Amino acid sequence: MKFTLSFFAASLPLAWASFKPGCESAPWDSEIDFWNTKYTSSDALPFAPEYNNTFVRIRNRQRREIILHCTNEAPQIEISPDHEPLIVKVPVENVTALDGYSQHLIDMLGMSSSIKRVQEQSTSSCIRGLTRENNTYEIDNWSEAPETEVTFHDDAAASGDNSRVLIYNDGRYAPLHQLGYIKLIGMFFGMEEQADAIYSAIAANYRCAAAQVQDMAMNNDYPSGAFISAYQKEEDSLSLFQNDYWTVLSTDAGSRLVNVSSDGSGDDVNVATDSEIFVKQSWAMIDTTQYRSGQRPIDRVDEAAWEDLSDVPTGIYAVKHDNVWLSDRQTNRNLTHNFFARGPARPDLVLRDLISVVKPDFDESYTKTFLRSPDNPDDFDAQRRKSDTCIASDATISSLGLTECTLPDWAGGYHSSGLSANAYNPAAADDEVASLALSGNGSGLSTGEKAGAAIGAILGAAAIAGAVFAAFWFKKRSARRNAHKQREVEEGKIGDKTSISSIGS
Ligand SMILES: *[C@@H]1O[C@H](CO)[C@@H](O)[C@H](O)[C@H]1NC(C)=O
Ligand SMILES: *[C@@H]1O[C@H](CO)[C@@H](O)[C@H](O)[C@H]1NC(C)=O
Ligand SMILES: *[C@@H]1O[C@H](CO)[C@@H](O)[C@H](O)[C@H]1NC(C)=O
Ligand SMILES: *[C@@H]1O[C@H](CO)[C@@H](O)[C@H](O)[C@H]1NC(C)=O
Ligand SMILES: *[C@@H]1O[C@H](CO)[C@@H](O)[C@H](O)[C@H]1NC(C)=O
Ligand SMILES: *[C@@H]1O[C@H](CO)[C@@H](O)[C@H](O)[C@H]1NC(C)=O
Ligand SMILES: *[C@@H]1O[C@H](CO)[C@@H](O)[C@H](O)[C@H]1NC(C)=O
Repeated sequence: MKFTLSFFAASLPLAWASFKPGCESAPWDSEIDFWNTKYTSSDALPFAPEYNNTFVRIRNRQRREIILHCTNEAPQIEISPDHEPLIVKVPVENVTALDGYSQHLIDMLGMSSSIKRVQEQSTSSCIRGLTRENNTYEIDNWSEAPETEVTFHDDAAASGDNSRVLIYNDGRYAPLHQLGYIKLIGMFFGMEEQADAIYSAIAANYRCAAAQVQDMAMNNDYPSGAFISAYQKEEDSLSLFQNDYWTVLSTDAGSRLVNVSSDGSGDDVNVATDSEIFVKQSWAMIDTTQYRSGQRPIDRVDEAAWEDLSDVPTGIYAVKHDNVWLSDRQTNRNLTHNFFARGPARPDLVLRDLISVVKPDFDESYTKTFLRSPDNPDDFDAQRRKSDTCIASDATISSLGLTECTLPDWAGGYHSSGLSANAYNPAAADDEVASLALSGNGSGLSTGEKAGAAIGAILGAAAIAGAVFAAFWFKKRSARRNAHKQREVEEGKIGDKTSISSIGS
């Protein structure tokens, strides 16, 4: 069976309706089931809905429940006060979206104009445009904004505010599991069907690319052992992502993550071997660090700046072979990149970016969305303040800009790519595939170049853009320290000839 994704555009129903007519005026304990579309647990949702005629109770891993009702009358059900429920009549009109991920999901539903309050300068062109036009307000101007019916946020540490809905965005979920949040947000707008259609279109695009990768691998036309390190720099340490989000993405891209959490726990790592694993096995590196955010005037990180700021040893295979990628291709005026805000909303594009790193000729016409090379600071998709970039409610699918993709003949039907690692080849998890970085030119690090930063691992639910889960240290020698030493040599503080020549060589 072959099908292409244009199928989705053609199959959209003309009219959407989440509830049967008459719900508003019905009593809360009506016997009529007003929900036209219900999600089930087989939908791989990151939340659990339980429908009951006029209302739905939702558990979202938070202690509190969310109760959405379509009646004017709020349900009089008994709820344990421990659950501090948020009870909201749907559909809502005005929302607060504190985090960029929620902002993108709402925009994708065609509902950006409902966003009245945001935290600070967004990385989304659309939201920035709406802010300029006084439709949306940043926190300093909230007094100008209407009250909102719900607040979406991604701060797992924040507590105590019942009106808030936590949208986890910390790498705990595989990409197509994470995208399931578009369905939760869609429920607040009474847009279950639309959210489901958008989800399905993105999931199909993702799975089609993953299947093509697998097809090429089966024909020995895809590199094996193209190990990726995805990491973020935090002060003097590098945190390598080892969570479900990155693990699944990398295997769907026909690659795998450099694994420094060899026992899977992350807090019991071995200093000597694990630092060596990162240094020796990294065939490609994805650096998600937010360098130079807020800096004016605009001065994007180039190769020299990256070498200086990143602390990554230049002898690593990925560095020597120009296979380092920064995730800041799309940034706003403040040089804040949108990778952690938009990436989880478009896992299909993140996957295509990774595939184009592993096999550039997979699709020669493809332009990366999020990634760019440090050599090329001009590869820049500025997120300007333009509300005409907002997605129109009647163009939610067409504006996804889905790539044409033909499924291989064998790949019909449901499979678990995007949801679990090694979806096509569970045995690959135990394979003794070696990193391509180890062959050929390898990572010929000189003894003087072992250094860099401390290495840690970001596992499971540990914050994607925050805490370092487990750090272990090896000898620190940042580029800056080298420069400092060089100056000392020039100033004669280290008067030993041998050290001068070895530093200068
Ligand atoms: C639906 O709500 C009513 C009223 O609270 C309750 O009696 C009933 O058990 C609920 N049904 C389900 C399936 O939860
Ligand atoms: C939403 O905000 C608009 C102003 O932008 C206001 O006119 C409307 O009444 C608000 N809706 C609700 C339900 O508060
Ligand atoms: C937005 O509000 C500010 C302050 O009230 C005003 O100066 C500006 O002209 C408004 N912008 C638009 C597009 O209405
Ligand atoms: C928003 O706040 C800034 C100062 O924080 C002010 O300069 C600007 O005029 C405000 N905009 C509106 C629309 O009130
Ligand atoms: C790393 O290897 C360990 C042990 O085989 C495994 O439990 C863990 O899931 C692996 N981590 C990644 C990110 O592949
Ligand atoms: C963004 O840039 C503006 C203008 O330079 C500055 O006022 C603002 O504080 C910056 N915001 C952030 C979050 O860096
Ligand atoms: C080794 O490096 C040289 C020069 O950088 C390059 O031309 C050659 O293709 C590399 N060989 C392998 C196996 O990567």
